Amino acid sequence: MRTRHMITICAAAALAAVSRGCTKAEPGIIAQKCSSCHATAVIHEKKRTLDEWGRTVHAMKERGLALTAEEEKQVLEALAGHFGSD
Ligand code: HEC
Repeated sequence: MRTRHMITICAAAALAAVSRGCTKAEPGIIAQKCSSCHATAVIHEKKRTLDEWGRTVHAMKERGLALTAEEEKQVLEALAGHFGSD
């Protein structure tokens, strides 16, 4: 199936850390910070603006997500860049 094939290619690209140009590839910081409590599939299915992702990340912090200010910036950039709505 065509769609599934694309997803496989994107996953391979993410693993090889050549995710540029593949909007569905998962940035490493997301896998690292967001996969301990739930699958990152809950993130992949969302399209949010930077503001909305900010609220999501805040909600995750209330649930126990630990992020430094620098990590939070990277996470938000990655979320808005890869799973953004414009
Ligand atoms: C400390 C545990 C924990 C971590 C780490 C965590 N989450 Fe969550 N997340 C949860 C729980 C619990 C739920 C389900 C409860 C709910 O939806 O209210 C959830 C649900 C979600 C949802 C679905 C609900 C919604 O807002 O649409 C999204 C999206 C999400 N998380 C994004 C993230 C992102 C992005 C990160 C990394 C920055 C992250 N989570 C890290 C605990 C966590």
